Amino acid sequence: MPGTSVIGLQWGDEAKGKIVDLLTQRHDVVVRYQGGANAGHTVVVGEEVYKLSLLPSGVLTPGVTCVIAGGVVLNPAKAIEELGELASRNVEDSDNLKISDRVHVIFPWHFAEDRVMDKNTSDGENIGTTGRGIGPCYRDKVGRSYAVRLGDMYRDTFREQVQHNVEVKNGILAAMYPPGEFAPLDAQAIYEEYRAYAEKLKPYVADTTEYLLTAAEAGKRILFEGAQGALLDVDHGTYPFVTSSNSSGVGISNGSGVPARYINHTIGIVKAYTSRVGGGPFPTEQDNQLGQQIRDKGNEYGTVTRRPRRCGWLDAVAVRYTTRLSGVDSICLMLMDVLSGFDELKICTAYELDGEQSTRFPSHVDDLRRVQPIYETLPGWSEDLTGATSKSDLPANALAYVDRVSELIGVPVEMVSVGPARSQTISLK
Ligand code: GDP
Ligand code: IMO
Ligand code: MG
Repeated sequence: MPGTSVIGLQWGDEAKGKIVDLLTQRHDVVVRYQGGANAGHTVVVGEEVYKLSLLPSGVLTPGVTCVIAGGVVLNPAKAIEELGELASRNVEDSDNLKISDRVHVIFPWHFAEDRVMDKNTSDGENIGTTGRGIGPCYRDKVGRSYAVRLGDMYRDTFREQVQHNVEVKNGILAAMYPPGEFAPLDAQAIYEEYRAYAEKLKPYVADTTEYLLTAAEAGKRILFEGAQGALLDVDHGTYPFVTSSNSSGVGISNGSGVPARYINHTIGIVKAYTSRVGGGPFPTEQDNQLGQQIRDKGNEYGTVTRRPRRCGWLDAVAVRYTTRLSGVDSICLMLMDVLSGFDELKICTAYELDGEQSTRFPSHVDDLRRVQPIYETLPGWSEDLTGATSKSDLPANALAYVDRVSELIGVPVEMVSVGPARSQTISLK
């Protein structure tokens, strides 16, 4: 059973793209199965930097089939843009792509809803979404009445579907926006725009569930690329400050249609510290000079929105929880080079809540807001790690940090990353 999954174990941007790209060489198929263009996965190949939002990070390796499975919400314009960009940069194999006819399609009304809804969480704090229409599209998927799947766009009924949806959505949106701020959507224009997208994407459309099941049964090596991070999982994350899909390991089967028994190795991706974009509690956040130092060194600005990412110490309580939740076998500890130059490093090992210490990750966001992190302090190192190529190149204090993380989280660290390039990766196996 050669299936592998890669799951981010924090709030996203753990450098999943880099590891998926590296592991692709050992796989036949790479699958994105949830989320959409809210993701921004960076892959560095030599001097070239690729930012992928919808296409699987395996797309840069020739001979590999890339799949966008049914659990994804698809912005067709973005998919076409990414394919065009890869073609213009001579990435030959982007043709080797299959997009599920079951993916739900993001329409202009979803963007309009995302913009206005984000201002309305019950406790007044914004979710701070990426504005890519993700939540509204998933809501329509579950609601069914106004949903459009990619396969619907090739049917005679598509024009009527758009017409009907626009009528209803114009009414809803006019009521949601402050008076005079919403310009009604034009059904005919949207229909024509989306028909053109459908034609461009036609060569890629497939029943990917059938394709993946057949591939799995034939023993093909499938790599599942998670988007976002497990703490943003709609059911098990820091709700409501989450994304609208199952971004922890539990989402793989429902998004791809492939049963869990075909996945024999789950790799958790963990940043050596923590970052978060958007709203919501973040117990180890350093909203101070130290956080700014991490942001500057780690270039912590959003891949999709360029928003400054909030930064803080590694939270082993949170990561131990998401490791267990996703059934992680081993982790890759990323961006270790960013921690060079600190006299001391802190890791959160427990939370204190109402006078009691615990390593349980709270299920309610109000409790997570109130926890006090309990830190363990480790000695730092001054050496630059970006040139390290083997375990013996790592300073003793860096190795001690890696060992302590592994101990606290409960699984081995299989790789340490010391820079964005493929070569800046150290295997500890
Ligand atoms: P993803 O969404 O999980 O794929 O992560 P992003 O691409 O949004 O963010 C990770 C950023 O860190 C990217 O700019 C990567 O090129 C970069 N990166 C990856 N690994 C390392 C590393 O070990 N060290 C440093 N300094 N940067 C890294
Ligand atoms: P990758 O795959 C980091 C965050 C948003 C916001 C919340 C909900 O690159 O790790 P959404 O637009 O999904 O409704 O926003 O989730 N978010 C991410 N944060 N990395 C991502 O993806 C993210 N995708 C969504 O900032 O807080
Ligand atoms: Mg990202």
